[in-house]
Amino acid sequence: MQDGRPDRIEGRHVNMPIELGSTMVFDTLSEFEAARDARYKSGTHYYGRYGNAATHKLEQMLAKLEGADAITLTSSGVAAITTTLMALTRPGSHLLVADNVYGNTRAFCDGLLTQQGVQVEYFDPMIGSAIGHLIREDTAAIMFESPGSGTFEMPDIRAIATAGKSANVPTILDNTWGTPVFSQPIALGVDIVVYSGSKYISGHSDCMLGVTASNATYAKVIRKAVMQIGDKTGGQEILLALRGLRTLKLRMEHIDAAGREMALWFADQPQVKTVLHPALPSCPGQENWARDFTGAAGLFGVVFHTSSERSVRAFVDALHHFGIGVSWGGYESLVLPVTPVRTATNWSETGQLVRFNIGLENVESLKSDLANALPLLDQ
Ligand SMILES: Cc1ncc(COP(=O)(O)O)c(C=O)c1O
Repeated sequence: MQDGRPDRIEGRHVNMPIELGSTMVFDTLSEFEAARDARYKSGTHYYGRYGNAATHKLEQMLAKLEGADAITLTSSGVAAITTTLMALTRPGSHLLVADNVYGNTRAFCDGLLTQQGVQVEYFDPMIGSAIGHLIREDTAAIMFESPGSGTFEMPDIRAIATAGKSANVPTILDNTWGTPVFSQPIALGVDIVVYSGSKYISGHSDCMLGVTASNATYAKVIRKAVMQIGDKTGGQEILLALRGLRTLKLRMEHIDAAGREMALWFADQPQVKTVLHPALPSCPGQENWARDFTGAAGLFGVVFHTSSERSVRAFVDALHHFGIGVSWGGYESLVLPVTPVRTATNWSETGQLVRFNIGLENVESLKSDLANALPLLDQ
């Protein structure tokens, strides 16, 4: 049978049935005890919170795609990030975090983690191997993102992973943008890959899911933390993710081509100052993308010449094909103005930054929608 499906499906359906349930029952007490003792292992059937047949199929399939020993699933991408950070830090430990991480990662680090006594230090995402100078005796982990949220700098993943390895400090990479179709961070030396399955993995904006991929040692610690906290993926979400994986490669190929076409189109518009798309030389770290990725996602930034917030609002409101909303990776194209938050580096652009998610629509329709709205931006 194919990956992501059980060996035998009752009836003749291609996909797995939705599996709902909390209590699982056993024929003997010894069988129950064996399952309880193995409850933190993927594939064990013990109680609904620890996963069921469909959960384990999704874990196996993602492990194969990531080249990981193990996968732990969570109820959202944020839960994958927060449980991993909680599992690896202690009161007093030092955590290195890239200055361009996803807003909620930053909020968690500055909020709950700091409250628990973790010392969070932000670093320049383009630091490369010099990250080694920031690693201390008490550094518990290095958290970074490929590329940075909103600003799209592509870090030197290999250099940061190598520095972490030589100091015995685990690296955690949020690779939501790259997906396992375009990059394999574990093969580049990263210890733990986290991502939001709510984006491209499920692919239709109808599912919330998080993924942590790692080797067996870290998986044990992270899985235990997720289970102890009680985070849990829903049965429907697991099936939507399994279904999404069936078309992931096809969707990513389309999105790669469409995203690059739109990014190049933006670069030709007189209102545009810089396009922050990791496959274009105008984006910091493009050489890292070219070396380590086989394609690009459809999410990128555009810095306009105008610094007028009012005219950017008028432009955004005038678009018909671009929904205004958070998240990305579904069918629909999206637009959102971004205000980068920095503490270790400076965001020096004076023009307004707007993030675009290119979906699966016809690119000519997207261009004509944008061409109608761009004149609303002040020069
Ligand atoms: C880079 C990145 N990581 C993580 C998340 C969080 O994922 P979720 O919305 O599934 O919690 C997001 C969501 O926008 C994101 O953009």
